[in-house]
Amino acid sequence: MKYDFDRIVDRTGTESMKWAHPRRDLGVADAIPMWVADMDFEAPPAVVEALRRRAEHGVFGYPLVPPSFFEAAAGWLGRRHGWTVEPSWLSMTPGIVPALNYIVRAFTRPGDPVIVQTPVYHPFFYAIENNGRRVVRNPLRFDGRRYTMDLDDLRTRIDAPGRMLILCSPHNPVGRVWTRAELEALARIAVERDLLVVSDEIHHDLTYRGHRHQVFAALAPELAQQTITCIAPSKTFNTAGLSTAAVVVPNPDLHKKFEDEAERSGFDLGNALGIVAFEAAYRHGDDWLDALLPYLEANIDILERFLADRLPEIKLIRPEGTYLALLDCRGLGIEPGALNDFFLKKAGVYFSDGKIFGDEAAGFVRINFGCPRSVLLEALERVERAVKAR
Ligand SMILES: Cc1ncc(COP(=O)(O)O)c(C=O)c1O
Repeated sequence: MKYDFDRIVDRTGTESMKWAHPRRDLGVADAIPMWVADMDFEAPPAVVEALRRRAEHGVFGYPLVPPSFFEAAAGWLGRRHGWTVEPSWLSMTPGIVPALNYIVRAFTRPGDPVIVQTPVYHPFFYAIENNGRRVVRNPLRFDGRRYTMDLDDLRTRIDAPGRMLILCSPHNPVGRVWTRAELEALARIAVERDLLVVSDEIHHDLTYRGHRHQVFAALAPELAQQTITCIAPSKTFNTAGLSTAAVVVPNPDLHKKFEDEAERSGFDLGNALGIVAFEAAYRHGDDWLDALLPYLEANIDILERFLADRLPEIKLIRPEGTYLALLDCRGLGIEPGALNDFFLKKAGVYFSDGKIFGDEAAGFVRINFGCPRSVLLEALERVERAVKAR
C-alpha cells in the first residue's frame, strides 16, 4: 500500500490536545481519544517533506504570503470542486474559527441575531456570543436516521437587521453532505431575504460514495456576492496545528470589510510553516486524499456493522462526509448528563458529548473515526465491555 493508514503513530509527548486532554487533564491514563477533530494519521508525504525543507532552512522570521499560496487554493477549488475563483478573492486567516469571529464583528452589530442550524459545531455559538451577538437557532429536522434542513422554520427566523447565517457544509456533527437541491432551496431564501451566508466548508473534501459536495457560492453568481466561503486543508490533510486557513470573498466590498476587521483584530501575518503546508497540500495532496477516503469509509462500515451486531442499543447516524459521526445512545438508558463520563470512566474512550452541539443532541456522542482501524476496533470493544457490564 502506498500510504499506510493502519500504521499507529504514537502521538504521546507531542502535546496533542486530542491525546493529552483525556489522559492528563481528565486523568484516564490509557483513554482512547475519539473527540476533537484531527486524525491520527501522518500528513501526506509531500506536506511533511515541504515542512522538512522549510524547517532545515532554520530562519523563521515574518513571512509574506506568496501569490502561489492563493493560486494553489484556487487550483484545488477548480480541480476538486469545479469552482472557478480568482486568487484575489482569497484571504489567508489563522483558522476558520478566528475568521468566523472577524466576520461576525465585521458584518453585524452588537445585539444582532446570527442564525445557526443546530446541533452544530459549537465554536459557531462562541463566535456569536463572545462578540455580544445573539444566537438564533434553526434546528435541523431529524427523522431518527437522517437530518435535513427546516427551511420553513428558517424563514421565520430571518430578522432585520444583520441577516447572517453560518452554514456548516458538509455538516459537523450530523455528517450531512447537503445536496445541490437542498442548497438551491436555501439559496433562494438567501437571495430573496438578502441573507449573508457564511459557508464553513472546511470538511468539503471529506465525502463518501454517492455524495458530492456542492460549493454553496458556486450555485449562482449573485449568490456568490453575498456569501463568504471558509476553506482549509487542515481537516483534509491533518494539519490543524499549523493554523492556516482561507476565506473566499468574491464581493469586493465584503472582502475589504473582512480584511479591515482581520487587521483591527491584529492579524495580518501568517505562520511561516502553515503557509508552506497549505500550499504543498493543495498542490500535491490529491493522490493521498484519494487513498484516505476509502479507508475512512471502510471505518464507517466497520463501525456500523459492529454496532448493529454487538451494540444495537447505540445507533450510528451514518455520515455522508467528515470523519465524525453522531452515535444515538438514548437506547442505553443513561442520563444524558452522565453519558460521556460513562464512556470515559467505564470504557476508557473519550468522545465529544452531543450536548455541546446543542440540546438537540443530548443523549448522543460524536465519534471521531479518523484513526487506524485497530484503534477504532479496540475502542468499540471497550465500549461493548462497559455497556455489557452495566
Ligand atoms: C465546521 C468546522 N469549522 C471549523 C473548524 C476548525 O477550524 P480552524 O481549526 O481552522 O479554526 C472545525 C474543526 O473541527 C469544524 O468542524
